[in-house]
Amino acid sequence: MSKNDLNLMEKIVSLCKRRGFVFPGSEIYGGFAGFWDYGPLGVELRHNIKQRFWDKFVSGRDEIYPISTSIVMSPKVWETSGHVSTFSDPLDSGEKFNTMFKTSIGAGAEASVSYLRPETAQGMFVNFKNIIDSFHPKLPFGLAQIGKAFRNEISPRDFLFRSREFEQIEIEYFVREQDWENTFETWRKEMHEWVGEIGLPKNSIHELEVSAEGRAHYSKRTIDFEFDFPFGRKELCGLAYRTDFDLRNHSVASGIDLQYFDEESGERFTPHCIEPTFGVDRTVLAILVSAYTEDELGGEPRTYLKLHKNIAPVRAAIFPLLKNKPELVNKAKELFLNLKSQIPNLAFDDNGNIGKRYRRQDEIGTPYCITIDFDTLEDDTVTLRDRDTGEQERIPISDLVSKLK
Ligand code: GAP
Repeated sequence: MSKNDLNLMEKIVSLCKRRGFVFPGSEIYGGFAGFWDYGPLGVELRHNIKQRFWDKFVSGRDEIYPISTSIVMSPKVWETSGHVSTFSDPLDSGEKFNTMFKTSIGAGAEASVSYLRPETAQGMFVNFKNIIDSFHPKLPFGLAQIGKAFRNEISPRDFLFRSREFEQIEIEYFVREQDWENTFETWRKEMHEWVGEIGLPKNSIHELEVSAEGRAHYSKRTIDFEFDFPFGRKELCGLAYRTDFDLRNHSVASGIDLQYFDEESGERFTPHCIEPTFGVDRTVLAILVSAYTEDELGGEPRTYLKLHKNIAPVRAAIFPLLKNKPELVNKAKELFLNLKSQIPNLAFDDNGNIGKRYRRQDEIGTPYCITIDFDTLEDDTVTLRDRDTGEQERIPISDLVSKLK
């Protein structure tokens, strides 16, 4: 990492803590390597990312079914999936270290070992038959899950990039074997579209065709979508062709038939699976890295987050010009309460002077600031300030909702 890149990471980590995006896990006890806690703004940012994903890929389509499965599953799941035998990294000694977290289930002599899931995917494969039986979907169809995954990483590092507890968004998309290549191509495009929609510049994403040696044990083809992080070009999300590996193996091991029956042709077969997978925390980090900007505004240096308005933790902040004028404060509060039901994540701020409020909102990436002044009391207009340019326009209150949406 060059000095500038190191500085950038330090600045981002510090902004995240100072402004309440992300805190070191168990901080009052000196921290706990590989674990991070999200503060109010980080929670909102993550929530907005996940919500957009959900709107686009789940609610917005009729062939992708949401599911939410247990973090702890039967150890047989992990034996069958191949994770018990192959999910390991080499230690300095050369020895293999399985990175699944072991946990103990039940008490005393009855206790048995299982694992915290290292991927959300398996919960979807083992529920394949439940979805078929309840919903009778026609191929192609997918299952989608957002949830925590855990890996006992040997060296967690680079802030949110490699942690021991993180969140994944995964889709297992089932197709006929002969359709895998087309479906893979379609998802490849959808994934590029998605990263663009959350504000990551096109030229910051690079595809890496993963070699046979580099691929996970279940994959016949994998593309890593890499992002230029300050510490190097690294995997942000991935697309894998998992073949029928998981369904076939779980069928054999469980003795439960996980095939698909095509009513029209009378065929019975095991579908193949294309898997787009995303790390929520890596996405948050990539977004922060690409949004972090230092410039000069009005002759003063400033730091701001150039977040896309749809994912910014605060969409707009409302201020009374002066906090010691009750008529302005009351009008600002009234507007805040009126707009709150229509605009997500609105904030009210009357701390410090107006210049300081602008800087504070810029630093957390708030796209708009709305100021109530004495003219507002006369004509129901406000000033709307744009975060990126610092420019202000005077607009009627009745135009605010359409401007902010
Ligand atoms: N089901 C496939 C799967 O789990 P993966 O490439 O091992 O594939 C998927 O993980 C995504 O999960 C990665 O692209 C990354 O975004 C995220 N991820 C993996 N390990 C992580 C870690 N230690 N910390 C944060 N995110 C991680």
